[in-house]
Amino acid sequence: MTEALILTELRGDGARRTGLVTLNRPKQLNALNDELMDQLGAALLAWDADDSVGCIVVTGSEKAFAAGADIAAMASKSFIEAYQGDFITRNWETMRRIRKPVIAAVAGFALGGGCELAMMCDFIIAADTARFGQPEIKLGIIPGAGGTQRLPRAVGKSKAMDLVLTGRMMDAAEAERAGLVSRVVPADKLLAEALAAGELICAMGGPSVMMAKECVNRAFESGLTDGVSYERRMFHALFATADQKEGMEAFLAKRKAVFKHA
Ligand code: CAA
Repeated sequence: MTEALILTELRGDGARRTGLVTLNRPKQLNALNDELMDQLGAALLAWDADDSVGCIVVTGSEKAFAAGADIAAMASKSFIEAYQGDFITRNWETMRRIRKPVIAAVAGFALGGGCELAMMCDFIIAADTARFGQPEIKLGIIPGAGGTQRLPRAVGKSKAMDLVLTGRMMDAAEAERAGLVSRVVPADKLLAEALAAGELICAMGGPSVMMAKECVNRAFESGLTDGVSYERRMFHALFATADQKEGMEAFLAKRKAVFKHA
């Protein structure tokens, strides 16, 4: 029987619920290996295709979101094994294919691949215990799951260089100042806060949520003129949805909108 390296459950009691996935290799501080990433990818894809799921939260343990790629599993890899097996690309970035919002709820260590996994999510809510870093340089390697690309986009060149070249960790307060995380909350409120954000998102109109995510992501893939033009087309398209009519009518009638996600 395959070991469950993640735990999954649905939370919330609205028409659309939040999929909560907990990384579950506590003894190894949730070190990420191919099996875990396969299981995580499969869970994310299943929820992405499930109309009853409106948002996803990815979390770890109190001590570690994830302490990086599993060093024991890759220590003896040769170049040719890494290259021909397409290490990382093959299955670690399934997250990028997910069209529904994914929130990372991070407590404790988010290092190396763990920091990179958090950065692949749409936003990060951090516990005050969270510590972020790209310590690969200390292992004689560099980040391999997007860290050298996503970190500078999140925190700017200077801090990204500092973290990637020295391998030092930054605490939650520094991560918030730098713009890596959207908010910092007390550790015992982390899950509640992330699930509350999930519930809010679940109650919004599904098409507008998906298009909003797509447009913000477009900001990282295009110049301003193209990005704004892309946004404008999406904005226009939403006038074809029932949710736009409901949202605006509800506002004018001073009642709460009830979206049909259509
Ligand atoms: N891979 C494999 N095992 C790991 C691990 C990792 N990334 N991180 C921690 N563990 C294991 C430890 O080996 C240890 O196992 P044993 O109990 O069997 O000895 C267990 O988890 C607990 O770890 P520590 O005893 O080290 O706990 P600590 O509290 O003293 O230190 C830590 C915590 C600072 C996070 C430390 O474990 C650490 O530095 N871990 C490695 C972090 C790292 O280098 N991550 C980058 C990996 S490379 C990468 O991610 C590449 C990429 O871009 C994809």
